[in-house]
This record gives sequence, C-alpha cells and structure tokens, in this order.
Amino acid sequence: MLDPAAFLDDLDTLRGIGRRGTGVVRRAFDPDDIRARRRLADRFAAAGLDPVIDPAGNVWGCGGPILIGSHTDTQPEGGWLDGSLGVIAGLAVARARPGAVSVVSFQDEEGRFGATTGSEIWSGALSLDAADALTDLDGTTFGAARCALPSTGSAPDPARFRTYLEPHIEQGPVLDAAGEAVGIVTAIVGLRQVTVTMEGRQNHAGTTPMHLRADALRGFGMAQDAIATALEDVVTPDSVWTIGHVALHPNAPSIVPGRVRFTVQWRDASAARLERMETAIRRALEDAARASVLRIDISDTTALPPAPMDSTLQDVLARAAEREAPGRWRRMPSGALHDATNVARVLPVAMLFAPSIGGISHAFDEDTDRDDLVTMLRVLDRAVGELT
Ligand code: GLV
Ligand code: MN
Ligand code: MN
Repeated sequence: MLDPAAFLDDLDTLRGIGRRGTGVVRRAFDPDDIRARRRLADRFAAAGLDPVIDPAGNVWGCGGPILIGSHTDTQPEGGWLDGSLGVIAGLAVARARPGAVSVVSFQDEEGRFGATTGSEIWSGALSLDAADALTDLDGTTFGAARCALPSTGSAPDPARFRTYLEPHIEQGPVLDAAGEAVGIVTAIVGLRQVTVTMEGRQNHAGTTPMHLRADALRGFGMAQDAIATALEDVVTPDSVWTIGHVALHPNAPSIVPGRVRFTVQWRDASAARLERMETAIRRALEDAARASVLRIDISDTTALPPAPMDSTLQDVLARAAEREAPGRWRRMPSGALHDATNVARVLPVAMLFAPSIGGISHAFDEDTDRDDLVTMLRVLDRAVGELT
C-alpha cells in the first residue's frame, strides 16, 4: 500500500543531508552527496531492493522491470526536490508494489563534471574512461572524485528493465500559473554548451592607457552583446541561451583583467535550430575576440539531443492523471534537462511533473505544495499498476 506519509518523511530526511536553509548543496561526490548515496543504498535494502553503487556512482535498488528514478546530486545552490523527488517517489512505489519496480539515483545529473554524466555512462553514450577525464570548474577530474565512493558492484544491464519513468518537479511556471497538479512530458529539449577562454594582457589599472589595453572583461561584454545580436534571426521565443559561469582573472580592482573564462549554453527543441545557434554563437565569439584584440579558445561542444517521450507511456500517465487530478493536468515539453534524455537511448521513457511554486528552481527557495507531491506520487503509482 502506498504510504504518502513515509514518502514525505523520506524526502524531508534527504533534505537534511547538505541542507542550507530551505535548500540543499550536494555536488556530485562531495561528502554530503556520498552520505546521501550511502543512505539511499540502505533505504533500498530496507525496502527489499538489491542495492548496488556502480563505478560511476549511480545508486541502484534492483527489483522489478519498471525502473523509476532521477538524481540526488544538486546544483551549487540546489532545491530540495530537483531530482530527489523522482528517486524517493520510486522508492515509495517500490515499497507499495513488491517485485514491480527498481529505483536509481543517477550521478552528476547537475553537471559538476559533464552533463547528466551518470546516465550518459549507463546508456553507453559515454565511456567511463572518457568520463574520468572530465573536470569540474576547479580542475578536479571525475576519475579522482569517484574514488571517494567505491563501487559495490556493476551497473545492471538495461535489458533487465522494460520501462523508465522519471517523476520530477516542473522547474518552470506553467503548471503553477494554471493551477494544475500534473504535467505529462512530451519531449525534453536538446542542450549544447561550450567553455570559452578569452585572453588579453594583464596590466596595471593606473598606468596602462585606455588605447593600449587588451582587457579580457571588455571582450567578454562585447561577446555577450554579439551573441544576442547574432541569435536574433535564428531563435524562436522558446529558444534559450545562458552565460551562467564567468571566471575573471585575476579579478582585482587595480588590475586590467588578463583572462576571462565562461560557459555559453543554449537549448531548443529542434536539433536543426541547435546547430544553427551553434554556428551563430561561434561566429559571434570569434568576431568579438577579433574586435577586442583578444586571443580566444572555444572548447568542443557538449551536446545532448532533444528527446521525445514514448507515446504509449505518455497515454498511461495521462489516464492515471485524469483519475487522480481530473481536468488538472496537461501535456507539455520539458525545458530542463533530465536523465531520461540518456535513458531514452536504451529504454522507452516517460516523465511526469509536479508544479513548482512560482516556477522557481536551481535556487534554495524551490518548493512544491505537499498535496501536489502526493498527487504526483499517486499518479505514478496508478501508472505502475497499469504497467504491471
Ligand atoms: C538540469 O537540471 C538542467 O536542466 O540543467
Ligand atoms: Mn537540476
Ligand atoms: Mn533534476
């Protein structure tokens, strides 16, 4: 029998590991992430699942053929539900339906090292060797970081599962604004990202005449404007791009900045448009570097393609949503990235969303009404009942 109180209690307990005010910090393989993963393995065992921590740091509770999960690592300032909701909902349904469900918490979904690294490895799109060379923004490699969480076994073969379901918060404003309780995801948008380094000449802020400067931050500002202008003719209102990380060297008031390193990320539902955006962004960056007399290096592109969800599974979730929240659900795309993008390479996948209050996520004040969390759990459980 489904136990919503135990489900909420498990969510609250997980929130306590790495808690910061109302939010959470558990970067992949940091001490709190490892604590949470070890505890999760224990909770899986207590629920009658066979716990495995695989070499990539994914935590498995192996049981039945319906795989449910998400991730328990967080952004540098993370909410308590992003990822955790899907894993703990899977655990709750596994307890309610012995033998039907397996559960997983994939590692590094939030991209400390790559992007959705753990599920990328499991789905065969990235080798463990290649992942080991990925670095975080401080230069730590995935390979070095994962030594802190020794593996207890190998990952289960995808062939032992029939289906992957990923429950998640919406992380956007649509359901909350409409007063709806459930979203059934139609497709996950694609994402591309590059890391850019622009280098000029570090020098004295008092003695270097303005016309002799090669100021990296000035070049960065020009690049930002050039990208926005270049994309005007390429994007739709649903396309998004973000410069979310900037590191200025040496970042001191009396020094003309010598180097700036930043990420450029863009997302869209169309693979062709992602490609056109990439061409425009790369050209804009090169032009800005030339105009500001800076050297530029643009990394290889990290790319995840748009991923459509399985239509039969969408229909199963839609029937369950109509029973649990009549007239208060919709089908919708996901602008956020999810492990389901990778799992879609090896299994039929579907996702369902709970509303995010105010559309806030990747922030400490991310939240969802507890009644909505339980409604989503009931929809998931009903869908698993139909699939079993
Ligand atoms: C993952 O949370 C993403 O959409 O960046
Ligand atoms: Mn996230
Ligand atoms: Mn997430």
